[in-house]
Amino acid sequence: MTLAKRKPQKQAAGQTDETRPAASAAALLAWYDRHRRRFPWRTSADERADPYRVWLSEIMLQQTTVRAAAPYYERFLQRWPKVTDLAAADLDEVLKVWAGLGYYARARNLHACARAVVQDHGGVFPDTEVALLGLPGIGAYTAAAIAAIAFNRKATPVDGNIERVVARLFAVEDSLPAAKPRIRALAATLTPPERSGDFAQAMMDLGATICTPKKPACSLCPWQMPCAARSRGDQEIFPRKAPKRSGRLRRGAAFVVTRGDGALLVRTRPDKGLLAKMTEVPTTAWSHDFDDARALAEAPLKADWRRMPGLVTHVFTHFPLELTVYSAKVRDGARAPNGMRWLAADQIEGEAFPSVMRKVIAQVNPLVRKT
Ligand code: ADE
Repeated sequence: MTLAKRKPQKQAAGQTDETRPAASAAALLAWYDRHRRRFPWRTSADERADPYRVWLSEIMLQQTTVRAAAPYYERFLQRWPKVTDLAAADLDEVLKVWAGLGYYARARNLHACARAVVQDHGGVFPDTEVALLGLPGIGAYTAAAIAAIAFNRKATPVDGNIERVVARLFAVEDSLPAAKPRIRALAATLTPPERSGDFAQAMMDLGATICTPKKPACSLCPWQMPCAARSRGDQEIFPRKAPKRSGRLRRGAAFVVTRGDGALLVRTRPDKGLLAKMTEVPTTAWSHDFDDARALAEAPLKADWRRMPGLVTHVFTHFPLELTVYSAKVRDGARAPNGMRWLAADQIEGEAFPSVMRKVIAQVNPLVRKT
């Protein structure tokens, strides 16, 4: 397989495709040994990684920054030091300690996974990517990360940071997302058979600290010589991205109903499709021909509706959305209509709302965070 498919380019720094050295794992690992970031879930070079800790950190780091995840990681370990402790815990307790990390499906899967490890694997995490993939909440990236970091398997997790490093190193001309399989294949060619876990984390650190999306610090990079994009001098254009397809505008109305005690009327989105299973306030359908004048005919209940000034706008991958927001207050004992429920005031902040819904709620209650 020809891995580096490049158009002939003018080369900076006297490098050509023929003379540029190959990227060596040894160079990156030597850099990592000096500059690795310290995190509570990282063991030192002479310590053995605990698969439970590696797994816990990787689940928390899905869609959460390292800074935000660290205190939660410590709290979880203090409370449930072993996978058997977590498996024996009440789901409600786990959700409470998780509160604030968002995306509650992850916490539910975390608990289900701990139980599966205890029930199906005798309390010992399986040590291959394939077996890890069979556990709840573990996808391709997480399986590869755990296999590499906890078991030193030759596995290659590829997240957004690593995608960027590889796209630049090989100057991958294809655009994301179509380029993903090629980037994954290229990344796998870099992974060494030894110290695969350190190598994976070195790639993460390189992407997070040196090979940043804007103004990468190429002069500090251990791979500046082998980097094809750097030698062309156009590193910032990688990874190339397909232009956004902006579908037709859809419009609708959203209804923010609060009880006297601050509880909010919500429902759960369908199991499949856009924002599956996430929590939302009731809305009309989102359509191209939404008629504002008829919005209140679709309100979830009779109330003294107030139309909020302005619109909430949100851009999904396939279409932009504009929502008119109506708010109403109802009495404390009011019943939730069919398929809806009351969410207590102190649970609103931690609930798994998609961003568009946070924007809607913040339109009525500016104290609710918008992201
Ligand atoms: N992001 C996901 N996994 C990580 C890890 N092990 N170290 C740093 N950042 C990460």
